[in-house]
Amino acid sequence: MTTRKPFVVGNWKMNGDIAANERLFAALRPALDASLLARVDVSVCPPFPYLGQAAAWLGDLAGSGDAGQGGKRGLSYGAQDVAAWAAGAYTGEVSGAMLADLGCRWALVGHSERRALLGETDATVAAKAERALEAGLGVIVCVGESLQERESGVTAEVVARQVGAVAALAARTDAARFVVAYEPVWAIGTGRTASPEQAQDVHAQIRALLRSAGAPADAIRLLYGGSVKPANASQLFGQADIDGGLIGGAALVADDFIAICRAAAGSA
Ligand code: PGA
Repeated sequence: MTTRKPFVVGNWKMNGDIAANERLFAALRPALDASLLARVDVSVCPPFPYLGQAAAWLGDLAGSGDAGQGGKRGLSYGAQDVAAWAAGAYTGEVSGAMLADLGCRWALVGHSERRALLGETDATVAAKAERALEAGLGVIVCVGESLQERESGVTAEVVARQVGAVAALAARTDAARFVVAYEPVWAIGTGRTASPEQAQDVHAQIRALLRSAGAPADAIRLLYGGSVKPANASQLFGQADIDGGLIGGAALVADDFIAICRAAAGSA
């Protein structure tokens, strides 16, 4: 059996300011110690303008050399998005190379908020993932169905389409740099979590899709996201195909995020 090191990613979204971030970094840094990070990889994704602040707080730990993208000690930072182009006249965009320059190890792509609010298509998501990988970053590709899609019974279809758009890319990428986050849209920020069984079902489907595309599916980490809290984390992470979480709201509360990281470490 392949062992996949659990991975917890904090998606700060468009929240925070310099002072709030500083409090969060100051609380996370000592709590995420070497013994915890031996059992769980942790990454935080602040908004672009604060990546320099993340570098100042975590740069020595997230530093170079580890092909596993975990940074020196399993603690890294990443970006919430990346451009679908490598460089050029794309006002307002941020390239994968720029993120790598700032010490980022990861880029989120295809978050449902970007798909829904900014019209990102599967093709855009795939292009972003490809550019990020070319720049040496790891990617966390977000997929998931809306409430309406779940209620009309097309969850499997939607997820197959979203995963299908990046499956060939997964097949030619080192598993350490390719992560899929299943985030049912109806569970994001709503306090309504998918049951461990519901999440496990979709995770198993995603792993099977990756496998049939020729990707190293048993080594690829699959994260669950959508109202993960300290109270439900252990049960979710205890499922066979759930390798950690993508955490929104609870990532802004140091004690909650640390508790979720500990739950993931305990599921290893
Ligand atoms: P949530 O967000 O944990 O606040 O539901 C998860 C996400 O959108 O990544």
